[in-house]
Amino acid sequence: MVSYKDLGLVNTREGFKKAIAGQYAIPAFNFNNMEQMQAIVAACVETSSPVILQVSSGARKYANQTLLRYMAQGAVEYAKELGKNIPITLHLDHGDSFELCKSCIDMGFSSVMIDGSHLPYEENVAVTKKVVEYAHQHDVTVEGELGVLAGVEDEVSAEHHTYTEPDQVVDFVTRTGVDSLAISIGTSHGANKFKPEQCTRNAEGILVPPPLRFDILEEIERRIPGFPIVLHGASSVPQEYVKIINENGGALKDAIGIPEEQLRKAAKSAVCKINIDSDGRLAMTASVRKTFNDSPAEFDPRKYLGPARDELKKLYMHKCEHVLGSAGKA
Ligand code: G3H
Ligand code: 13P
Ligand code: ZN
Repeated sequence: MVSYKDLGLVNTREGFKKAIAGQYAIPAFNFNNMEQMQAIVAACVETSSPVILQVSSGARKYANQTLLRYMAQGAVEYAKELGKNIPITLHLDHGDSFELCKSCIDMGFSSVMIDGSHLPYEENVAVTKKVVEYAHQHDVTVEGELGVLAGVEDEVSAEHHTYTEPDQVVDFVTRTGVDSLAISIGTSHGANKFKPEQCTRNAEGILVPPPLRFDILEEIERRIPGFPIVLHGASSVPQEYVKIINENGGALKDAIGIPEEQLRKAAKSAVCKINIDSDGRLAMTASVRKTFNDSPAEFDPRKYLGPARDELKKLYMHKCEHVLGSAGKA
């Protein structure tokens, strides 16, 4: 049993309180390898932002959960070395069972998500409550989810979304004791969040997706005032990355994300954690594809992963400074 407190990590409780009061959101960036972790930490140190390092089930399978845990411990030391002791949370993204959440808590995670959103309501309540009871014995915070996001991604999939039902939230948070709640208001996982036919074109001919359901968010906030809300599937899918990818041998079709303006608006509400993974994947892929195209003789991984890491850092700094408002809040 390792306590996250001995690793220098923090749970989400204090950070969420401050984020709601200060009308910003804490970035939750997924990581699977060293370059992603370095970019996240460097960007958040440079912008003085708190950060949530997220590990998905897919990441655990890809990189080995022990290595990722040590990497997060390294992240704390790396941040100090870079000059700032920013609050860092190590969070399990989309935990799908009590056993998985327990194993992460036991190895030093400071926060876990139990995603029972696909289960019948009573089963979601039961498994979430079980995780909360165990987690709180160790002062680990728990994120639950109500409502189903559309979109397909390796480990997280749902054909259609079901918006969160505001009538259920009071019952869910009181019976489970969760510390934060992920909701479904029109975001989805991956880089293809909307079909072009769902979008309209603006004056510049750019596809504009339907707005998020802020009415549902407001209704939820009315039912559970001041309760921390989480937004998954919040990548904005920057079109400049899609263009670079496709100009350099890629084949991304209909890649459409959540406009940043909508995320800025969400960050000012009770939404205090915003999950971003796909945008990082796009930034890295765009950079690597361009390097390969521009320098076909290059075969030193540092020569293509290094620039990709720089691009990632730039993207994360932009999110903290200009979208989530978390810059300067560490
Ligand atoms: O919400 C899903 C995250 O983007 C993680 O995706 O399961 O492919 O690692 P993954
Ligand atoms: P994106 O696919 O929009 O980046 O969402 C990531 C996410 O929600 C991780 O849990
Ligand atoms: Zn998610």
